[in-house]
Amino acid sequence: MGTNRRAMMTPCRLTGIATGPPHMGIRHLSNDARAPRQPKHTIMDLELGNQRVLITGGSRGIGLACAAGFLREGARVAIVSRSAENLAKACAKLAEGQGEFAKDVVAVSADLTNIAEAARAVEEAVAGLGGIDILVTSAGAAKRRPPDELTPQLWQEAMTAKYFSYINVIDPVVKRMAQ
Ligand SMILES: NC(=O)c1ccc[n+]([C@@H]2O[C@H](COP(=O)([O-])OP(=O)(O)OC[C@H]3O[C@@H](n4cnc5c(N)ncnc54)[C@H](OP(=O)(O)O)[C@@H]3O)[C@@H](O)[C@H]2O)c1
Repeated sequence: MGTNRRAMMTPCRLTGIATGPPHMGIRHLSNDARAPRQPKHTIMDLELGNQRVLITGGSRGIGLACAAGFLREGARVAIVSRSAENLAKACAKLAEGQGEFAKDVVAVSADLTNIAEAARAVEEAVAGLGGIDILVTSAGAAKRRPPDELTPQLWQEAMTAKYFSYINVIDPVVKRMAQ
């Protein structure tokens, strides 16, 4: 049940859930006291429908919130994180919140600090989505430490966790996008 460090793809086949239209409702409240206090709702099309989005760190926190937002806009989403268990929980949450839009979410388990695993995760996302139009990098986090506790080794670990986990994905994705 722990972290699965082997890169593997787990397509989330989630069905039988109610759905709604992909849109973002924006409420405009009038300052005019004479105007009826009825909110107007504007539909804003962000033109993300059918865009193929790879989100690293998509199983939790900011990455998971991004996945929900993109699905709401009608985009197709692949999420990457190390733990297959976290990915499965994320898929369940997305299905709860985004219904039918979440049924084709592609979940890829990979440790993005590893160059080969990151490249493989990109390939699996491409295979699942048919390509990548948008990349959101939100994986990993560096531990906060008081400056006098920092050492070159800790700097290196932090850069591996937080910087190279991004570069390892950006590099193959940019090269694919340039083709
Ligand atoms: N939250 C904030 O206030 C804040 C502010 C500024 C910047 N940020 C930055 O924004 C990013 C996301 O923050 P967050 O708060 O959403 O973090 P979080 O809740 O800790 O989520 C991190 C995500 O990254 C995945 N992950 C961690 N290490 C990984 C690795 N080596 N390979 C693949 N996936 C990995 C985690 O899943 P697994 O554990 O399953 O791998 C999880 O999905 C971080 O880089 C953070 O430093 C956050």
